[in-house]
Amino acid sequence: MNSAIPLSPTYSGTIVRLNNASIHKYYLPYQDIEWDEPQNRIDLDDSAWSDEESVFIARTDWYRRQTQRVRNELGLRISVDAARLGVLFENILTRGLLQFARQLPSGSAEYRYVMHEAIEECHHSMMFQEFINRSGVTPSPEDRRARLFGNFIARMAGFFPELFFMFVLGGEAPIDHAQRERLRKSKSLPPLLRQIMQIHTTEEARHIHFAEYYLREHVPRLNWFRKTLLSLITPVVFSVMASMMMRISDSAARAFDIPADVMKQAYDENPDYHQMVKESFRSVIEMCQELGLTRGVSERLWRFLAT
Ligand SMILES: [Fe+2]
Ligand SMILES: [Fe+2]
Repeated sequence: MNSAIPLSPTYSGTIVRLNNASIHKYYLPYQDIEWDEPQNRIDLDDSAWSDEESVFIARTDWYRRQTQRVRNELGLRISVDAARLGVLFENILTRGLLQFARQLPSGSAEYRYVMHEAIEECHHSMMFQEFINRSGVTPSPEDRRARLFGNFIARMAGFFPELFFMFVLGGEAPIDHAQRERLRKSKSLPPLLRQIMQIHTTEEARHIHFAEYYLREHVPRLNWFRKTLLSLITPVVFSVMASMMMRISDSAARAFDIPADVMKQAYDENPDYHQMVKESFRSVIEMCQELGLTRGVSERLWRFLAT
């Protein structure tokens, strides 16, 4: 971050708009969600939990052989695992945002906005955790590699914020894309899940917007070394995030006895799955191209890992 160069009017104006949006459109999970209302009770006999439209596994013969009850249990487990990953991800983000805010000088335009964002991420964590608690499901254990990787990224926020905000996009863009697609396509989504996703996508739109504008403002100011490093780490970050977020966890696959070849059929060998990964990263890849972050070795990495 080079504070000697004044911020562009577009970037400063965006921060003012996002600050205003944060105080006019926000949610409080224990006020806005009526957790105890009958329509929000989690009932495993309700076929809405299977939500077959949104899971790639539903298109396999293995899935067609399962009873409705197993499909409902699998659907709920997938939603609980997504919430568990959300709690971890929000935790990394919040730590990174606080680390980033700590080194900002007094009078910095970004300070207030990132504090709004940190507060919103804390609310999301509470909302996801409350959903997990009420589901009665034990989520998949935390991936150790994801935790270590997350710790590294959160520390980076203080002295390499461009890498941190790239990670923010790497996590938020695919989740946002998946949730928007699910809200759009699923006709029978349980009301509780629908409301959680609506709250999340509304506030995430601001976070994605800020990360993009931050990167557009600050990446061109980076020196050659940092810019090269960013261009090489970014495709790796994106590919790790996509594989963590868009497929059934290994632990859930074991719990439901999903054979390895069925997982392959649902994901690795499924062009629709690869298309969805590509779609979710499209706008971010375009931004990286505009910022000159997809050249040389980086271009080959993108082709190999993330597309
Ligand atoms: Fe969030
Ligand atoms: Fe966010």
